[in-house]
Amino acid sequence: MRKDPISLITILTFLLVRGTRTFNITDVKTPSGWVRGYEENYTNGQVYRFIKIPYAEPPIGEMRFQKTRPIREWTDVKGIRDINGPQCPQVISPTPGFDTLQNDEDCLYLNVYVPGKISKDNQLSVMVWIHGGGFVFGGASQYKPQKIVLGGDVIVVTINYRLGLFGFLNLHDPLAPGNYGLWDQVEALRWIQKNIAAFGGNPKSVTIFGQSAGGMSVSLQTLIPSNEGLFQRAISQSGAVSFFAIAGEKAEEKTNEVLLRNTNCKRERVSETLSCLQNLPAENITEAVTLTEFVNPDNITAEIGSMTPTVDGYLIKKDLAYPENWDGGIYQFFRSIDFMSGTTDGEGNVGFFNIPQNVLTKLNVSATEAVPKSVLCKVLAPMFVQTGAGNIPSLTQEICDYYTAEGVDEQSNKVFEFYGDSWFIAPSNIMLSIHANNKENTKTFQYLFTNPSPFPLLPRELLPSWLKGAGHGDELHLLFIISRDHIPEEKLKTIDLADVDRLSMDFIQYWTNFAKFG
Ligand SMILES: *[C@@H]1O[C@H](CO)[C@@H](O)[C@H](O)[C@H]1NC(C)=O
Ligand SMILES: *[C@@H]1O[C@H](CO)[C@@H](O)[C@H](O)[C@H]1NC(C)=O
Ligand SMILES: *[C@@H]1O[C@H](CO)[C@@H](O)[C@H](O)[C@H]1NC(C)=O
Ligand SMILES: *[C@@H]1O[C@H](CO)[C@@H](O)[C@H](O)[C@H]1NC(C)=O
Ligand SMILES: *[C@@H]1O[C@H](CO)[C@@H](O)[C@H](O)[C@H]1NC(C)=O
Repeated sequence: MRKDPISLITILTFLLVRGTRTFNITDVKTPSGWVRGYEENYTNGQVYRFIKIPYAEPPIGEMRFQKTRPIREWTDVKGIRDINGPQCPQVISPTPGFDTLQNDEDCLYLNVYVPGKISKDNQLSVMVWIHGGGFVFGGASQYKPQKIVLGGDVIVVTINYRLGLFGFLNLHDPLAPGNYGLWDQVEALRWIQKNIAAFGGNPKSVTIFGQSAGGMSVSLQTLIPSNEGLFQRAISQSGAVSFFAIAGEKAEEKTNEVLLRNTNCKRERVSETLSCLQNLPAENITEAVTLTEFVNPDNITAEIGSMTPTVDGYLIKKDLAYPENWDGGIYQFFRSIDFMSGTTDGEGNVGFFNIPQNVLTKLNVSATEAVPKSVLCKVLAPMFVQTGAGNIPSLTQEICDYYTAEGVDEQSNKVFEFYGDSWFIAPSNIMLSIHANNKENTKTFQYLFTNPSPFPLLPRELLPSWLKGAGHGDELHLLFIISRDHIPEEKLKTIDLADVDRLSMDFIQYWTNFAKFG
């Protein structure tokens, strides 16, 4: 029977926007315990969604700032009827097109989406989505993968992991060694190995994929040899290992200092500091540190803060970002999996929102009109050099000279081209080079995405018209169902939705083919 992808997607969008009421349920017995899935009907088949399945013990109380503990077997039935589970604690900042989720520190849950009839004999490939959001925002349930599930006949699992300080506070002591968010991701992958066969998934055909901080997470996980066997393939979308993905010691120290000051937790014995922090309400920690406040417009090269993975000597070794040596166990493991990475051609536009307002004020810049070279030379380049190498004015000058163009709009774009190159494009290229070099029997793919989204996550009306290219996150609407409710009717009429759907089907085909065959 010929499939009709266009109507499939139209229906998918319709159903999710309106909100489905599912009544038919299915219970699956996994090695961890019973889970309940809720049926969703589409013209081309059914999806069973299993929402809020626990994969780890709740990271609350004395488990806050501790390595993930696997979930114990349960005797009741897990899985809720709602289409959304909670998100890990964060400053709530709604994103157009995405559902706004509830914060809950008890957040180590995953969602499983299975096509059609569930049978242990299916041996379906499994794709595990690690969401983005700068390691401080986002949640698994915001990403509704039914298009991928039905379009590619794969199981998709979306996972939560601890964010911000809950995920990454590192007190440089075995009592609080950091990287809890990465340990969460590993634990979710272990749960999938143990349980996915019960849903008809093939644990030997697992692809991890993610975008932005999710892409950075994916590529970090590919450089952790103890992950061998947890996945066979990886896709890093607009995010790879770089020094933006791994906090420098000074940035980390500065963040900890502000946290302790704003929470009145003393820096005494680590056990006492830790227990003080563990006894605070979660909101007090979420609200204690705001990263943009670190940027001092009078001295950009002063240390900035960070809430990202850190060097812990175990999961992450020092030289992971720009390694001098591409040999050794880490890279052997990396080259033993199939790897795809890529970017959009206008990644840097996300930088437009990341320049702190106090800096723009100081430079007397109204960014919607034009972004002068001073923003590059006095802000972005020094911040980049400071983060990666320390205060080296000659290097800053070199960058400043290189990203030069005639014309106001062209020069404005150059500023954000630097942002995109330094944050996303160069790191992706470096990882691809390492992977393709001296390779085993695995495959390396690169993509470049150049189609600006009609439904951008960064509201296009807030972006100046001179910004060129497909922006950060512009490919996500092709993979996931993103609500179009916020798009004005007149604007929707100007969009060729059939064309968007065709592109979406192609995109899903590429991604799921990679997941199945490499
Ligand atoms: C889905 O289809 C089945 C079989 O046709 C039907 O019994 C069930 O009620 C439908 N479920 C929903 C949520 O519409
Ligand atoms: C529920 O779904 C199962 C599996 O798709 C189907 O066989 C059954 O007819 C459905 N029952 C109802 C009441 O919808
Ligand atoms: C948490 O923050 C609130 C509001 O700032 C404050 O009133 C309260 O004392 C804080 N709690 C603790 C235990 O520090
Ligand atoms: C800027 O900050 C750096 C690092 O903290 C410091 O070494 C330097 O003296 C400061 N420069 C000025 C002009 O304050
Ligand atoms: C800031 O820019 C505006 C217009 O671009 C200009 O009129 C004003 O004089 C500038 N102020 C300073 C302090 O440079």
